[in-house]
Parts: sequence; C-alpha cells; structure tokens
Amino acid sequence: MCVVCHIALRKAVLIGDDVIVVTGGSGFIGTHLCQRLEEDGYKVRILDIVPPQSGIRGEFVRASVLDAGRLQKLFNGAEAVVHLAALIDVAASVSDPYADFSVNAAGTLNVLETARRAGVKRVAFASSAAVYGEPVRLPVDEEHPTAPLSPYGASKLSAERYVLLYNRLYGMENAALRLFNVYGSGQNPLSPYSGVITKFANAIRDGKRPIIYGDGSQTRDFVHVDDVCEAFVRAIECGGKDMPCNIASATETTLLELMEEMCNIADVPADPEFLPAREGDIKRSVADIALAKKTLGFSPKISLARGLGGIVGKRK
Ligand SMILES: NC(=O)c1ccc[n+]([C@@H]2O[C@H](COP(=O)([O-])OP(=O)(O)OC[C@H]3O[C@@H](n4cnc5c(N)ncnc54)[C@H](O)[C@@H]3O)[C@@H](O)[C@H]2O)c1
Repeated sequence: MCVVCHIALRKAVLIGDDVIVVTGGSGFIGTHLCQRLEEDGYKVRILDIVPPQSGIRGEFVRASVLDAGRLQKLFNGAEAVVHLAALIDVAASVSDPYADFSVNAAGTLNVLETARRAGVKRVAFASSAAVYGEPVRLPVDEEHPTAPLSPYGASKLSAERYVLLYNRLYGMENAALRLFNVYGSGQNPLSPYSGVITKFANAIRDGKRPIIYGDGSQTRDFVHVDDVCEAFVRAIECGGKDMPCNIASATETTLLELMEEMCNIADVPADPEFLPAREGDIKRSVADIALAKKTLGFSPKISLARGLGGIVGKRK
C-alpha cells in the first residue's frame, strides 16, 4: 500500500484523546515517546518499575510487566500499547539468562495476553537488531538470517515471534519494530546500543580523549530517537503487518567518523585513545529500511550531524 493511503488510514483509525499504554515509559525511548504522544493529544498511561521523568503528565503505575493483575487494569479502555519495557543489558543477559527471558520474553507474552483479553488490537513491540547477530550480508533486510549472539537477542527474537503469532491467531494488528542503534538526549552511557555517543559527548565536554576499542572502523546504523518515536506512532496508527520491520537510518557510520563528527561540532581536535578491540563486538551493521517505508511510510528525517548537534555542545 502506498504511503499516501497509509496517511489517510492513520487519521481514520486512531485520533488524539485515545488512551495509549506505554510499558517501559520511564526509560530513554519511553520518555521521548510519551512526550511525543502527549504533544499529539493522546492520553498516556505508563507502566514501569521506576517513575517517569519530570514533565510527563501521563498516569503512572509502578508495576512489572510480569504482574498480570496490574496490567489488566491498565489496559482496560486503551486503544493501543507500545511495549518498550525490557532488560537491555546484553552482558547481564549472559550472566542471568533467566531474568532476561522472564522480563523480555515471558513479560511480552503477558502484555499480549492482557491486551487480547482487554480487546486492545494493537501492540507495537520494540524488538532489536540483536536478533540478526553478526551480519552475513549488508545492508541487513528482514529476510537476513536471525542468529542472536546473546540471551538478550534470543529473548527479543522469541518475543517478536509471539507478537506476530497473535496477529495470525487472534486477528490482532501488532507490529514488531527491529530497532538499530537509537540515540538522543537522555541516553544512559551504559546502553549497549548508542551509549558510545553519550560516552564520547561526556569525554569531549570534560576535555578528555574519547576511547575507541579497536581501530574505529567498526560501523553502526545510528537512528535518532525522534525518528523511532515517529515509527511507533505510525505503528499504532496504521497497525502492523505480519513481518517484523527494521527501524534505522540506513546509513553506515564508522565509530571514527562518529567521533570526528562530534569533535567537529564541539570545535575541538579529534584525538581518540585507542584500546584493544572488545571480543564479540559486531564489525559492521547497516539496515535496509525498504519494508518500513512501504508498510509504515517511515522515512527517517534527522541526519546524524543534526541529531548530534542536540547532544554535543561547543566546549568553548
Ligand atoms: N536504545 C536502543 O538503541 C534500542 C535498540 C534496540 C531495541 N531497543 C529496545 O527498546 C526498548 C526501550 O529501550 P531503551 O533504550 O529506552 O531502554 P531503557 O532501559 O532506557 O528503558 C527500558 C525501561 O523498561 C523498564 N523495565 C525494565 N524491567 C521492567 C519490568 N519488569 N516491568 C516494567 N518495566 C520494566 C525500565 O525501568 C526502563 O524504564 C527496549 O525494549 C529495548 O530492548 C532499544
């Protein structure tokens, strides 16, 4: 279906004032998404185990996605759910795969079952590029083999299979969005995704040398959080399809280029400290986003230079 049809459909189906539940709404992406939904006029209900950032007006329930009883009350009367709640620490998933599986996979099943029982037709789920593992060809499209390298990637893959299975079994219109390296303000430097941007920004601000593991030729596909929020809004407004879809910028950037761009914005010389490469680091990553364009009308708007401008300030 063409983009224009989708936009027409969006307006006809969900309109501001409807209630949207955001699980994990207190986290990095959740905070940006709740702000965006509130700007669009939606009523937001947040479910998280920690309170939301100040400035979010939505209703907040402190509970786990594992608590089915609390989910039920929250989902009643909602139009759609954006399911972001997860344990995102890849290393922790290796040391405690049960905890990771429990929140990321079983927690997602809880969300789906509760949504189905409450008559909520659309759950937009945050899956991850981690489902692909080390790419065997680039750019990575959705038909690329899935071979997760961590329990985190495996739990996301398992969860997205349930998300799409519920479309087939129960006629839901769920979406599984495979997010690549999301960045933006308010990101935790320990994030396995784009924490490197926060780390570089902090080093530049403090007059320290940014650290690069390896020779800096490893690549990532950095996508701005505002573009990711747009993708989630489109997913709840248009409904999902039976395939997971990549959400990324479709631009391959080396860590060296990233660091140089950030130093350039800050107007400081680029002088990184190189440390030995980390074992298990993926060498190259860039997504094909044709499917997201076709099914959601998704097209990223924020270039890396512009997005970094909102994160890195001039030092002098
Ligand atoms: N940031 C990225 O680049 C990226 C890339 C791919 C996928 N994702 C996915 O997007 C989602 C959001 O990521 P983020 O970067 O905002 O992470 P985040 O850690 O900032 O947010 C996750 C939120 O989930 C909450 N949470 C954890 N366990 C919970 C539980 N049992 N019940 C309820 N809430 C719980 C946390 O408190 C946190 O607020 C996650 O599902 C993550 O796997 C993120």
